[in-house]
Amino acid sequence: MKKNLLLLAALMMSVVAISQTSKDTKRQKFVNDLLAKMTLEEKLGQLNLPASSDFVTGAVSSSDIAQKVKDGKVGGVFNIRSVTKIKELQEFAVNNTRLHIPLLFGMDVIHGYKTIFPIPLGMSATWDMPLIEKSARIAASEASADGIQWTFSPMVDLTRDPRWGRTSEGNGEDAFLSSAIAKAMVHGYQGDDLSAPNTIISCVKHYALYGAAEGGRDYNTTDMSRVRMYNEYFPPYKAAVDAGVGSVMVSFNEIDGVPASGNKWLVDDVLRKQWKFNGFVVSDYTGIPEMTNHGMGDFQAVNALALNAGVDMDMVGEGFLNTLKKSMGEGKVTLAQINKACERILLAKYDLGLFEDPYRYCNEQRSATEVFTASNRAEARKIASQSFVLLKNNNVLPIAAGKTIALVGPLADAKENMTGTWSVGAENSKSVSLLKGLTDAVGTNGKVVYAKGSNLEDDAEMQNRQTMFGKDIARDNRSADEMIKEALAVSANADVIVAAIGEGAESSGESASKSNIDIPEAQKRLLKALVATGKPVALVLFNGRPLTLSWEKENVPAILDVWFAGSEAGDAIADALLGKVNPSGKLSMSFPQNVGQIPVYYNHKNTGRPLTGKWFSKFQSNYIDVSNEPLYPFGYGLSYTKFEYGDVKVSSNALKGNQKLKVSVNVKNTGAVAGKEVVQLYIRDEVGSITRPVQELKGFDKIELAPGESKDVSFEITPELLKFYNGNLKFDWEAGDFQIMVGPNSKEVKTVKVTWSK
Ligand code: BGC
Repeated sequence: MKKNLLLLAALMMSVVAISQTSKDTKRQKFVNDLLAKMTLEEKLGQLNLPASSDFVTGAVSSSDIAQKVKDGKVGGVFNIRSVTKIKELQEFAVNNTRLHIPLLFGMDVIHGYKTIFPIPLGMSATWDMPLIEKSARIAASEASADGIQWTFSPMVDLTRDPRWGRTSEGNGEDAFLSSAIAKAMVHGYQGDDLSAPNTIISCVKHYALYGAAEGGRDYNTTDMSRVRMYNEYFPPYKAAVDAGVGSVMVSFNEIDGVPASGNKWLVDDVLRKQWKFNGFVVSDYTGIPEMTNHGMGDFQAVNALALNAGVDMDMVGEGFLNTLKKSMGEGKVTLAQINKACERILLAKYDLGLFEDPYRYCNEQRSATEVFTASNRAEARKIASQSFVLLKNNNVLPIAAGKTIALVGPLADAKENMTGTWSVGAENSKSVSLLKGLTDAVGTNGKVVYAKGSNLEDDAEMQNRQTMFGKDIARDNRSADEMIKEALAVSANADVIVAAIGEGAESSGESASKSNIDIPEAQKRLLKALVATGKPVALVLFNGRPLTLSWEKENVPAILDVWFAGSEAGDAIADALLGKVNPSGKLSMSFPQNVGQIPVYYNHKNTGRPLTGKWFSKFQSNYIDVSNEPLYPFGYGLSYTKFEYGDVKVSSNALKGNQKLKVSVNVKNTGAVAGKEVVQLYIRDEVGSITRPVQELKGFDKIELAPGESKDVSFEITPELLKFYNGNLKFDWEAGDFQIMVGPNSKEVKTVKVTWSK
């Protein structure tokens, strides 16, 4: 019986394999046949990706882009925000080109399309993979209803430098967590079938190391060892590739002295040969011509360099279009390379089902009924509330019913800022401000009084830089004193003050690096005045990066980090403030005590002189003026309840070869309300052929416990999890002693030791 079942299973698997092979052959044949019909110019056209040139609906044929499309010079277009326009342009392309090849329509759908979820750094603080996948699924279904077939997401650039503005777009400082997120996002966008009308191609970016920009200044030089790349910075990109991501965007920065856009080792050797990536590679926005500034040669030379490296599609640069024919004539690139790049793009179009139906994603009916729906917004509200991190709480939160709440701060009534950076598809005016969310939630069960209290920044120009792209916060022309006075008057009769303070939405994101990551002076002054009243103050912190909060940690009774929580932010924050939702987010990035400590990250190396005793210790690795500890460590986040961790139990203290280690811990909710907890597993490989980090995240589990309830949480460790890239870049594990640590964050762990022999 068992044998028969096995035979049947084997037979079914081979049927599936055969039908997959015949599908692959059909797909390849279709594209080969098409390629055989194409002129060189038509092939180069497919490699060209201009940004959207705006045109009035109904007037596509007289737009700038029309002539180019007609001439076969466009493979795809990105950031058009209208299904009608996309449909018109698609129709134009199909009807006015010799081979009727449909266009690919892309967009930066980064954390939602119109229903906006928290910024990625906030999403990563949920540590909830099904939730993250769901957010990408909703984003894909909304974007595809509006004609979009391709998103430039997820961004998985690991960073340890909060000065870098794009910190907000990534998943923080840890490769393990970010790899899990990469996988969830790719599945969410792409689903199981790219040709379905509600799935889109994902593009992992920015390959690679973009988050290691020197000084945190955007687009800056990066330089690191290969072992660091492979062990720490590469894994999330590789995880996306392993999850089947359809495309990869190369980054602006250089790697080993060669910009990623022209780096053959990076694209051809690592991505394609080592990781077996078989989708297409797109440059970043003018990333190819920018190589002239890097000093890699003239316009023609850098375009040849990019194609030779393995880049298939040129975003905005137009150099593939205009120079590759000449380069081919001069023997600098080959027809085979151009064919290959074109083939990869056509295969992607095939996979999307565009040759079967170019209008598959242009369904105006879906666009009208499936975007920014009540149910998507309800999901976004739920998801947003899971991203909040409670950093401190001296019995201020949640706020009990019936209270008078003074809501103060420039971000309280700032709906345009709630979506945060990179919300291209959003209609910011439809977002829910905290003032609205809180007032609605309190209803007649208490009272909300409001004052702005301060501008975002004293300096108008500084404020402008942080509120561009429709993220305006109107400036108040009163003096700082007058505004504070009003805020104090409004707060005078309140039971509790909620200070909505922090960064503007565009204080982070692309080209938004900062050398000072304190709360801006204008708002800090206000916060100090509010705290000085002696009333309970909850700081609701809006931020796209870790900020330096030493004063706040010391002096403000409660701090709830809400990032930029998306279109439903105001309702979601109200849910958390009033205790309808118990905060459960955990930091995915350490918060430094001051800027001078950067980089400060949990999985650092030990050095030959680690600080063993108390800070300060002469001739040990520490600073004279600040301890080595972050202000808030990786994995940190409080709850309205308390969790008690039992001892860490292991199935064995001595393991051999491929045995599995079971690690378990009992976690109990000892408080009065239900709550979620992210139980974290770390290891330390005590001795290695190369130095190993003091701690590495290797597992996590988000659990929910009712008051008094306890659960055994268990993890399995296999030698696969112990592997790292050694000095020869061989991925393997080494026998020896390991510390196994479990806890509520990277600092408060309980440890047991095991020995693992080969
Ligand atoms: C950014 C990318 C983005 C692209 C297209 C670039 O400036 O670096 O992240 O996908 O623009 O908008």
